[in-house]
Amino acid sequence: MSKVYISTPIYYVNGAPHIGHAHTTVMADILKRSRLMMGMDAWLTTGTDEHGQKNQEAAEKSGQECQDYLDQKSGEFRTVFDRLGVSYDMFVRTTRPEHMKQVAHIEQTLFDQGLIVKKKYSGQYCTGCEQFKKESDLTPEGRCPDHSNVELEQTDEVNYFLQIEPYREWLRDYAEQNPEWLQPSRYRSELLGMLKEPLEDLCISRPKTRVSLGVELPFDSDYVTYVWFDALINYITNVGWPDEKYNDWWPYSMHLIGKDIVKTHCIYWPIMLHALDVAPPNQVVVHGYWVGPGGQKMSKTLGNVVDPIEVMDTFGADALRFYLAKHMRGSVDSQISMELMLQTYTSDLANNIGNLLARVSKFANSRFDGVIPAPENIHPDDQKLAEAVAANIGKACGRYEMTDIPDVLNAILAEARALNEYVADKAPWTMIKDEDARDRVASILYVALDGLRLVFEGLYPFVPETANKGLAVLGRENMNQKVHQHVFQAGDLKPASAFGDMVNLFPRIDLK
Ligand code: MSP
Repeated sequence: MSKVYISTPIYYVNGAPHIGHAHTTVMADILKRSRLMMGMDAWLTTGTDEHGQKNQEAAEKSGQECQDYLDQKSGEFRTVFDRLGVSYDMFVRTTRPEHMKQVAHIEQTLFDQGLIVKKKYSGQYCTGCEQFKKESDLTPEGRCPDHSNVELEQTDEVNYFLQIEPYREWLRDYAEQNPEWLQPSRYRSELLGMLKEPLEDLCISRPKTRVSLGVELPFDSDYVTYVWFDALINYITNVGWPDEKYNDWWPYSMHLIGKDIVKTHCIYWPIMLHALDVAPPNQVVVHGYWVGPGGQKMSKTLGNVVDPIEVMDTFGADALRFYLAKHMRGSVDSQISMELMLQTYTSDLANNIGNLLARVSKFANSRFDGVIPAPENIHPDDQKLAEAVAANIGKACGRYEMTDIPDVLNAILAEARALNEYVADKAPWTMIKDEDARDRVASILYVALDGLRLVFEGLYPFVPETANKGLAVLGRENMNQKVHQHVFQAGDLKPASAFGDMVNLFPRIDLK
């Protein structure tokens, strides 16, 4: 595959952007940058989901005009993603007129095909999920497992429904025949389990008497569109559907999502698409949840909420990107706190990478007239290390998926550690006292600096700004414009080329 269309969920604007939102969007950016480095074409969308009951309630509570509220909140998400260095190609807002027009068009199409029926529904509604809940979805205490603090609402309403059950068999066959479609595989097993039971119709409307923030139904102006039906459609309107040009990207789609929204993305969404004669998303990849230390769910009451803005103010955006990438293990919940951030920052970033760069570049810069040492011969031992570093980083940084990200980072960190140990062991600062050893010193330093260059190139998708700064110290240009397949090979650093300005990549941080 020569291209990829990566999307994140679009986030509700009923609160401030939090660490979970930052996570999915940063992972999407990492994958995009890694694909660009492979010479692939990539398109990334993220954004905000601005309709529905809970956004409406939040807007009302704010006392602001609804549109002002949505603009402000959506802007907050965009600012956080910009600060995190996310290179999105499109920042989606479901209040965009072109998107809203297509949502109505899709409803009319399905309505005309007789797939939408009007009927009375009685059931419990969770505004946290913006979903109706069956008895079997609830905890023994009768609460939503994801939103135990939200009071379920008893609703008795006449609404419009999309028939889902007629497509169940098709979807089950599809999921069975396409094992790569939903990752990690445990979600596929869960999905296949869900598809054993008959499926209820999907309610696609809300009466305006209850919710007015939404896309009006084209065939009944007393109703607006259900927020999930509207939001999922963003994935195709972003790439120009119904214009044929959506085919430039849609076959390469990769939806990144948290484990909370598998059902909407892997049951309702493919069925909506199938009804429209559009293929399912090419791939859906699921990650776990961020929780506080000790595995507790983050909550204001417990005081363990980690605010992405506070983390960036303290450690910088790249340190947050790095932490999120390194510590989310597949779909298992992972812990974050300011103290855990500090540990990772200190041991992996400052003591490993920062230390190697500072020690080697400062020493080489002062002893070799401000240029990268140019040894006459690279000593065979140094050469062996150089080749191992290039091979290991090259192998780790071949094509990787979201679930591989921590392993890729650990592999790069291992090479940085190996370089650190090698330099410590050879001690060029002692060796240089012997004038005859100068060429060997040059050889060690060259290999260490060239190895660091490989480390920064490998790290680029994860910590782009820091990697570029590190490369600048080594006199290299930044990686932002890379469009050709990147090859990780030893010896690319130009001997005798000038160092850039020395910078401290990871200054000491004290948590007050
Ligand atoms: N608006 C819907 C999605 C519509 S997509 C067509 C929605 N929004 S949300 O604001 O609740 O965001 C949910 C997503 O945010 C999760 O699927 C996940 O990507 C991310 N996260 C939110 N909290 C999270 C954690 N605590 N940990 C990790 N990611 C989580 O659902």
